[in-house]
Amino acid sequence: MAQDRAMARILVLGGTRFLGRAVARLAVARGDEVTCAARGVSGAVPEGVRFVSVDRDDPAALTPLAGQAFDAVVDVTRQISHARYALAALADHVGHWSFVSTMSVYADNATPGQRAVDAPLLPPPPSDVDGPGPDFRWYGECKVAIEQLVRERMGVDRSFLCRAGLIVGAEDSSNRFPYWVRRLARGGEVLAPGEPTDRVQFVDVEDLAGWLLHAADTGLGGTYDGTGPAMSRAEMLTGVAAGLGVADPRLTWVDQDFLRAHDVREWWGERALPLWVRLPESAGLMDRDVSAALAAGLVVRPLADTVRATASWMSAYPDDVPQGGLDPADEAAILGTWHAVRKA
Ligand SMILES: NC(=O)c1ccc[n+]([C@@H]2O[C@H](COP(=O)([O-])OP(=O)(O)OC[C@H]3O[C@@H](n4cnc5c(N)ncnc54)[C@H](OP(=O)(O)O)[C@@H]3O)[C@@H](O)[C@H]2O)c1
Repeated sequence: MAQDRAMARILVLGGTRFLGRAVARLAVARGDEVTCAARGVSGAVPEGVRFVSVDRDDPAALTPLAGQAFDAVVDVTRQISHARYALAALADHVGHWSFVSTMSVYADNATPGQRAVDAPLLPPPPSDVDGPGPDFRWYGECKVAIEQLVRERMGVDRSFLCRAGLIVGAEDSSNRFPYWVRRLARGGEVLAPGEPTDRVQFVDVEDLAGWLLHAADTGLGGTYDGTGPAMSRAEMLTGVAAGLGVADPRLTWVDQDFLRAHDVREWWGERALPLWVRLPESAGLMDRDVSAALAAGLVVRPLADTVRATASWMSAYPDDVPQGGLDPADEAAILGTWHAVRKA
């Protein structure tokens, strides 16, 4: 980060969990004046942050903040009304607005190499939908609608629409990347899904937080994918192992059709092998062209650093670490059947 940079006044709408917390923590660490506005239901804000307790279901909840000048806002919301109220209250009083969107805004998940600038989007949701349901229905569509609101109200030059990919690192309460950290730390024969060359793509939470602050500092405007460069699944699994100090993991690659036939599930959840998606239908999900993001200041740390940060959080806060994914007994049973079928 720039040493001579003037202190910035940053308002995080959120900040009580994962990415929002990382943005706030990083901003405090570099000397900014940081305010986080949330209910405080999801967790606590980092030390050194001014916390303002608000419920954004109330249209006027953020109005008291309008009189306090902020250089930049970072909003992580998924609710359309929350974004609308925030813009109504604050847009005239801030210089720069970052909205954390998602790659779930895209309509085409099959084509690799797409770019944020011209990839087709989902339509906004029906007018009676304000936010995603518990099953994530309308998630991408709601983010599309919020992107439109932010762009219209702030203008292209003062709004940074950051479509995050899978976010990984410390405090990740999903069982996706942590599954692989836990699995490779356990050792033994590891069920690796699909082909070694399949593509995998994600972003370290600290890198994304750093880029959001860089965008605020530099007044970056526009729409970008917020994720790191794609790598092969073999690179990812050996990289996770290397980050844990495991030199030569025993990976057994199991064909995707075999996995599906044995009820192994994709992406996350029970019986899932996280970060595994069906190909070719989902070949675009984790293989996007992020050269524009890298050119616009996204800096990606080595995978080993992400692994170490994730692993030390997992060992310091075992109760916060998500469980799930494919259970060890199920993994062993599937590997046994796979070897038996191959020998037959
Ligand atoms: N995790 C991933 O891999 C991934 C991938 C792509 C995109 N994304 C996007 O990245 C962002 C991640 O954000 P995040 O990690 O900070 O987590 P998040 O789950 O989006 O956090 C939501 C924040 O909003 C606050 N909030 C929720 N309801 C509120 C209300 N009624 N009034 C006031 N505040 C409210 C929550 O705090 P309280 O509950 O304490 O109020 C929390 O701080 C999200 O936009 C997500 O859609 C994530």
